[in-house]
This record gives sequence, C-alpha cells and structure tokens, in this order.
Amino acid sequence: MLTTQQLADIEQNPYKADFPLLAQNPDLTFLDSAATAQRPEVVLDAERTFYTTMNANPLRGLYRLSVEATEAIDEARKTIARFIGAVDEKGDPQGNQIVFTRNASESLNLVARTLGPKVVLGPDDEVVISIMEHHSNLIPWQQLCRATGAKLTYLRLDDDFRITPEEVAAKIGPHTKIVSVTQVSNVLGVQNDVKAIARRAHEVGAYMVVDGAQSVPHVPVNVRDLDCDLMAFSAHKLGGPMGIGVLWGKSEVLDAMPPFLTGGEMIDSVTETDAVWAPVPQKFEAGTQDAAGSFATKAAIDYLASKDMAKLEARERELATYLTDRLNDLPYVDVIGPKDGSRHVSAVAFNVRGVHPHDVASILDMSNVCIRAGHHCAQPLLNYLEVENRATCRASVAFYNDKADIDRLVEGLDKVWSIFGGAVDTKEA
Ligand SMILES: Cc1ncc(COP(=O)(O)O)c(C=O)c1O
Repeated sequence: MLTTQQLADIEQNPYKADFPLLAQNPDLTFLDSAATAQRPEVVLDAERTFYTTMNANPLRGLYRLSVEATEAIDEARKTIARFIGAVDEKGDPQGNQIVFTRNASESLNLVARTLGPKVVLGPDDEVVISIMEHHSNLIPWQQLCRATGAKLTYLRLDDDFRITPEEVAAKIGPHTKIVSVTQVSNVLGVQNDVKAIARRAHEVGAYMVVDGAQSVPHVPVNVRDLDCDLMAFSAHKLGGPMGIGVLWGKSEVLDAMPPFLTGGEMIDSVTETDAVWAPVPQKFEAGTQDAAGSFATKAAIDYLASKDMAKLEARERELATYLTDRLNDLPYVDVIGPKDGSRHVSAVAFNVRGVHPHDVASILDMSNVCIRAGHHCAQPLLNYLEVENRATCRASVAFYNDKADIDRLVEGLDKVWSIFGGAVDTKEA
C-alpha cells in the first residue's frame, strides 16, 4: 500500500513532456514498456546529430570525420560501461568490455554459440537456466544442448515465485558448465538474486550469464557487484533506439571466446588461408555497425542518469505497487505473480476471469490503453504455472507513467468485465 505522499507523487508527472509520442497523444495510456520503452526527444535528436554532424564509417577512415565518429562510439561504450558498473579498481569505465549487437537476443545467441562450444559441452555437462526465461535466453541454450548432448536443467519457482537458495544449491552442481538466468522476469516482474546464483555458479566452476533485458532499464545494475561473467540487454527497452543490443563481459571471458560473425572490421590481418582476430570488442562486431544507434543509446543513458536512476527506480516501484494494488482489488482479476506490489519491477501479469487475454487487450485498445497479451515469449513458464489458455495480460510501467494511466487501465478493465463478465465466478463467489 502506498502512503498519501507516494500517491501524490505518482499523480505528478514531470517526465511525459520529454517523450514526443506521449506528449502529442495525451489520451494514450501506454503500459507496455516491458516490450519497448518510449524514446525521449534527446534520443531522437542524437540520431539526427550523428548523421548531420559526424556521419562517416567509424574505424575505417583516417580523416577527421571518421575519427570523430569512432571517438563518439568509444564514448558511448564508456557511458554504457559506467551505467552498469563495468569499471576498474580506479573507477574508470571499461568501454572495451561493451560489445554492440542488434538486441539482447543476438547477445545471448552470441554467447551460446561461442562460449558454449568453447567450454566444450559434452553429454555429461549441464547448462542451467530458470523456468522464467524469455525464449531469447532459452532457445539458444536448448539448441546448444541438443547439438552437444548436454543436459538443460531448469531452476523452478516456489509458491511465492522465488528461486530458493535450496533450489540453486540442488540444481547447480559439479556437472554445471554454464548458468544463464534473467535478473528480472518479463512476465512476473520479480527480481532474482543473480548475485547469489553467480556465487554458486563460480563455486562449481561454471560461467554466469545474466539476461539484463528487464533489469538494466529499471534498477541500478552493477556487474562488478553481481560478479557475473556476461550480461545481455537491449537499448530499446531503456529509451534508446531499436536495433542496438549490448553484450558486456569480463575481459578475460570475452578474450577467450571466438568470434560469432566474421568479415570486415573484426580482423587484425588476413592471409589466403587464415585470419587473426582484432581485439575485443571489434572481434565481435563484423561489418558496419549502427553507429548512430550506439550514439543515441548514449543519449538515452545520459537522459536516465540526468534524472537520477535511483529516483526513477523509486517512482517505478510506487507505480508498480499502485498497479498491483488496484488489480488485486478487482474481484474479477487474478494477478499472476506476487500479490505484493513492491516485488514487481515494472511488469504485472494478470487475467480477467473467463476472458481471453487477447479479448481484454482488444477492448482496452478501444479506450486507447496499450497492454501486452499472450505468452510473452515465455511459454515454458506459462505451462509450468498452468495458466489458463497459456496466456496472460501484462501491464508494465515506466517512470513516464502516472497514477492516471493506471486508473484508466482499471476503468478499461471494468468495461471489459461489463461486456464479457457476469457468467464467471468472482473472487467473492
Ligand atoms: C527478459 C528478456 N530477455 C530478452 C528479451 C529479448 O529482447 P530483444 O527482443 O530486444 O532481443 C526480452 C524482450 O522482451 C526480455 O524481456
């Protein structure tokens, strides 16, 4: 439950004006930031600035424009590194630990394809993931295990949607070679203790990979503190452009991994019969990259930092709590996940009794309320939880939302219930 002061805080919204799509559509209720965030104007400006002031192919030229573009991308790497705590003992950001990809999915595929064969998985080995993984952190490991004969093992949840320390100790053992777990579930909104899971992975000599797609945009992340080996996330979920992903890794881990894609820009030298790879990160960045996108990702992170990430996180927690509380209060709605709103990072999944989530989302759309409905790329989770139709509705908040957005969602749900409901038992029944 929120205090009167917290309710007053989320009634205010000093952020919406920075987001052109939201500012131009005051009637729009956007509650699907877990799928992709809205972009602030500064990010759109940055894309334009790149093309109008420094457009040249980075790395390729020795002329000033190309050098400036190269420097801008190096700065972007440093900004991202600082944002996720990838700094050395002196606090200097480790930009060369930041590899640009197209999205979190590509980062995770890169890891599965290169770290997987590198640690030489065999039939006696295991890869451990959790049952709440997004397909992007599941299928690459499934494919790898199929190719190598290794076993794919799942960390499962207790009744309170937690991966318990007992489960971690039981499933991560001497055969485990790689552990890959999401820090925040894109369906349940819960935050996993990936630091404890990393500790256990390292105890047994396994690598620890973290899917940060839903955590990096919403909670302060520090890869040094987590002591994971690799982390993947996407720029578009934190207000940056679509088409930019990040893979962070410890230098010694990235150095030991072979390239994923080969071609231009990723080599030191090439002969007719062989090639020597360029150092990281270039080794993993074959061909011309989306330099404007990388530059605009820096703008997105600078924007978040300028608003104070801790403040944004607190606001998002309040919004998620208010959202969960309001949904808990609706007699015809079941929250799928913790009933305690403070455990939700952005996302809250729910169902309207007896109404298919697709119908819910379509009726809400008539009131200009955007939510996600379906399996959320987490089919094994929905099977495991035995959710009806193997689908849910999902509302997800960002700091640019406010109390009125959630109130409009609830008004829309009342409308859904008045159209479809009645014949179905409610919580009181
Ligand atoms: C937890 C999680 N991991 C990975 C992804 C994949 O992100 P992308 O589609 O940007 O590759 C998503 C996207 O929703 C996600 O929520």
